[in-house]
Amino acid sequence: MKLCMIGTGYVGLVSGTCFADIGNQVYCVDKDKNKIDKLNSGISPIYEPGLDELIKKNYNANRLIFTTDIKKAINSSDLIFICVGTPTKKGSLKVDLSFVYKCSKEILKHSTKKKIIITKSTVPVGTGDEIEKIFKKKKKLFNVISNPEFLREGEAIRDFRYPDRIVIGSDNKNKFKTMRKLYSPLISKGAKFFTTSRKGAELIKYASNAFLATKITFINELANLCEKTNINVEDISLGIGSDTRIGSRFLRAGPAYGGSCFPKDTKGLVSAAEKYKTNLSIVKSVINSNHRRVSLLTKRVHQILGKNLKNKKISILGVTFKPNTDDMRDSTSLKMIPYYCKNGAKVSYYDPSGEKKEFKQIKNCTYKKNIKENCVDADLIILLTEWDEFKSIDFKKINKKKNLKIFDLRNLYAPEEMKKNKLQYYSVGRPNLN
Ligand SMILES: NC(=O)c1ccc[n+]([C@@H]2O[C@H](COP(=O)([O-])OP(=O)(O)OC[C@H]3O[C@@H](n4cnc5c(N)ncnc54)[C@H](O)[C@@H]3O)[C@@H](O)[C@H]2O)c1
Repeated sequence: MKLCMIGTGYVGLVSGTCFADIGNQVYCVDKDKNKIDKLNSGISPIYEPGLDELIKKNYNANRLIFTTDIKKAINSSDLIFICVGTPTKKGSLKVDLSFVYKCSKEILKHSTKKKIIITKSTVPVGTGDEIEKIFKKKKKLFNVISNPEFLREGEAIRDFRYPDRIVIGSDNKNKFKTMRKLYSPLISKGAKFFTTSRKGAELIKYASNAFLATKITFINELANLCEKTNINVEDISLGIGSDTRIGSRFLRAGPAYGGSCFPKDTKGLVSAAEKYKTNLSIVKSVINSNHRRVSLLTKRVHQILGKNLKNKKISILGVTFKPNTDDMRDSTSLKMIPYYCKNGAKVSYYDPSGEKKEFKQIKNCTYKKNIKENCVDADLIILLTEWDEFKSIDFKKINKKKNLKIFDLRNLYAPEEMKKNKLQYYSVGRPNLN
């Protein structure tokens, strides 16, 4: 089939490449010339395991085309996927749909024959209806379908190839057939193909993300109680997660949830509910609780290093919101690092996905090239993201300070081991053995 992905970001690039890999011809369009130039010279603009090889393979086979020429891409394709960003509007809970509407207008302008328009971007319930209004002048040419994307950064290729489910929302049942054909290589390997109304599909995506965010927030709040009562939160996770009605995933205590989806989608869901005069009080609480968690864990450093952070050397390991991605959107580090620097600490950080532009202008914050260089003279090491290379560090070997302190927000190490090694170790929701 001939496809066009409008927006070559995390979703457009990964799904476009994977669609090409199952035999389709895919145009990946972006308005960002720099991104397209990079891709055409063989460099992926994002860090995603396995993606570089897959891009190269399909690019060389002429199944994958990167371009800024939206007109040509639209004219050469039958299925047009909208994969542009849907961020939160500044100072509000509402979703900024301007990118979606702008590219819908471009589709209208450049289309001369029938097209199926598919929203992969996460959009509030009713957005498909609004897109249809944009197309009303050439109504007969377009069918608007919702096909929300569920891939996770860091595991995106696997998630595309083996999805838990493929959700297709359409009010025109005939179009399910085309989508089933497109996804047939995945369906034949066992992926569940789930069809519903267009609005239903739009809401499923928000409801999924809000539910997962609720699980994380729930266990994070229980971790606070565990700390006060000397209970290990991991026992609680296991104890409740073994109940198949609950499930064990997304029940690991740690920092606030971040990334490009949960923070904005929980807000977007509350905002949609308000539009329809419904009170999603649970999701509102989740947003507030997550917000409090960022400052709670950031300020816990005072319990470890004292009130005065001046000239204290804090070394952070991992600054992205999760491992195996370079995505910094809504990461806890964006609040933590400026706070410590503002309070006089000398902060250094290392992240396997490289230096971050977000910290370049911050005084007293430096990027280090590896774990050892980052931690050698630290007073406190903060483990913020669970990249594999942070899971078996010999702290004694890389830092000779007698009273080295470690704050592990991902519970990567056993407190008993750390105590045996005479390290002052702090984690989340577990008894403090210091
Ligand atoms: N990142 C994820 O893990 C993930 C997972 C599932 C769903 N989603 C959803 O998918 C959507 C895209 O997310 P993302 O992370 O890929 O965003 P992104 O910011 O990485 O990519 C969006 C791209 O769209 C381009 N763009 C914007 N307007 C354009 C236009 N008119 N023409 C051409 N290109 C245009 C931008 O330049 C950018 O490269 C969002 O709605 C998001 O919520 C994201």
